[in-house]
Amino acid sequence: MSAYFLYTALTGLAILPLLLYIRNPYFFKDLRYTITALHIVFRMTRYSKRKPFYSILECFLDKVAKHPHKPFIVFEKSSYTYREADEESNKVARALSTHAQLKEGDTVALFLGNEPLYVWMWLGLAKLGCTAALINYNIRSKSLLHCFSCCEAKVLVAGAELRGAVEEVLPSLQQQGVRVFILSEDCDAEGMESLSDKIRQASDQPLSPQLRANVHLKSPALYIYTSGTTGLPKAAVINHQRIWMASFLQSIAGVHSDDVIYIYLPLYHSAGFLMGLCGAIDKGITIVLRRKFSASQFLDDCRKYNVTVIQYIGEIMRYLCNTPKKDNDRDHKVRLALGNGIRADTWADFLQRFGDIRICECYGATEGNIGFVNYVGKVGAIGKEHFLHRASGRYALIRYDTEKEEPVRDSRGLCTEVPRGETGLLVAEIGARTPFSGYAKNKQQTEKKKLRDVFVKGDFYFNSGDLLKIDHEGFVYFQDRIGDTFRWKGENVATTEVADHLIMVDCIEEANVYGVKVPGHEGRIGMAALKLREDMDFDSRATYQHVKTYLPSYARPRFIRIRDSLAVTGTFKQMKVKLAEEGFNPAVITEPLFYLEDSKGYIPMTQEIFSSIAEGRLRL
Ligand SMILES: *[C@@H]1O[C@H](CO)[C@@H](O)[C@H](O)[C@H]1NC(C)=O
Repeated sequence: MSAYFLYTALTGLAILPLLLYIRNPYFFKDLRYTITALHIVFRMTRYSKRKPFYSILECFLDKVAKHPHKPFIVFEKSSYTYREADEESNKVARALSTHAQLKEGDTVALFLGNEPLYVWMWLGLAKLGCTAALINYNIRSKSLLHCFSCCEAKVLVAGAELRGAVEEVLPSLQQQGVRVFILSEDCDAEGMESLSDKIRQASDQPLSPQLRANVHLKSPALYIYTSGTTGLPKAAVINHQRIWMASFLQSIAGVHSDDVIYIYLPLYHSAGFLMGLCGAIDKGITIVLRRKFSASQFLDDCRKYNVTVIQYIGEIMRYLCNTPKKDNDRDHKVRLALGNGIRADTWADFLQRFGDIRICECYGATEGNIGFVNYVGKVGAIGKEHFLHRASGRYALIRYDTEKEEPVRDSRGLCTEVPRGETGLLVAEIGARTPFSGYAKNKQQTEKKKLRDVFVKGDFYFNSGDLLKIDHEGFVYFQDRIGDTFRWKGENVATTEVADHLIMVDCIEEANVYGVKVPGHEGRIGMAALKLREDMDFDSRATYQHVKTYLPSYARPRFIRIRDSLAVTGTFKQMKVKLAEEGFNPAVITEPLFYLEDSKGYIPMTQEIFSSIAEGRLRL
């Protein structure tokens, strides 16, 4: 009898995994994610209780002790070990503490490109308990000054190559009492001091942890500026908790301690700095750092340095797929790609072309309080829901009116959740475990990101600005960013969807779709800026055939302009606002411009057509 029970029980246990698998084909991946996530929660709890607080800097110092001779940063022809990085950053900290009289809690703005010194500067500042404001090195004049007023930096450290940009705003900086250091050996200009010589002369001996004794989980560690598509940059306050959360992504993605990561994304943004650099420190791995992205050099770099993990963002993967095919496209050691914003078609192309690389797509905003990870590797999804998400805080997809550009409210003034499978605006409750630190010195923008009275009067949610869809298996799909959707003839047009169709036309390499205003019409009509493939002309027939076949009439771009290149932001997102403002007036746009004439196709745009539309003689 007991043998019978034992036998049944054993059989039951043996087929249990099978049953679980049938019920949920992602069972084992879900389980693995659960274990990793719980481990992260455990680590976070432990770090927050440690006195002094265990920051990413302390983690770095532990790695230095553990493997001092392991390469930390490989850059161009040089390689720096963990110990060398530690010593270099000691020198930086000493030079700054002596010559800029920095002390715990001060903020220093870093204005330089990707290079090892960037990392030494940040580590040095962290050793002094200072906050680093990471300034986009492409910005100038008014925007640059604006970044200072947000973070109240006392000191600016700028790369030698950016000296001109600093000189432009020097009088205003001096008025604000900002000390300016240039990373050069000497500097005779008034109001600026050289720093490289001072770093070179400083001692590389360790600094006392007492200097940063008051740093805790919630102290600001960094300011990272989110560009957005309009307006001046906003400084997201990144505290130590946030750095840790972003760093853990590499663990979730399955990065090992013997991996080599390729960082070419700008260090002034969260993808490169938090997910890339800080994540690499957490894993104690080697970083291959590059000044700038280069599609043609990308794979060569990966081969040369034995890169195993790459990051991507926005349009990057498409750029890689657009490079000329080579026989050795699959000859590399890259096994994992970690990032955000790859589109489903590019994903499939990428795998087919470059071989078996696991793509770990993540979703999250620099300042946001919610994220998803597609730990299953399902093509096209930006993440998968997990019960631990639900446990950490409430989030929902709510109904959104793209015309009024606001959430739909019911008679009680509350929002409604969309049914599963439908598109809605992602909002996440702001709470103790899901905080929103907001933007520094910008109450207005901080408030703008908060949504009140969502499900009950008086509640607060973070408004992600992203329209998502969650299917029955819990896979999360990106639909559009608010502002990337426009309404025409009462229909929503998702710009990315239209762009995905356009690039299927042979002659089109890239497409940027947006809505333009037409006098006397509600909403916006579709327009596309196109970059053509090399040596190809705009094939108006093929384009027309394609949009006619695949897109409903309201979504077909009515106007097309051909450009030599399409502008992208520092994070490789397409810029639309300026294009939308320029509209479709042939007197303004000097590039080739086309108009879609009903049932005829794309014809060159003329001043006459423009006038008929403007005067309302031609209804669109
Ligand atoms: C890359 O790996 C190969 C083979 O494992 C090795 O011979 C080579 O030295 C490595 N290159 C670098 C830059 O580490």
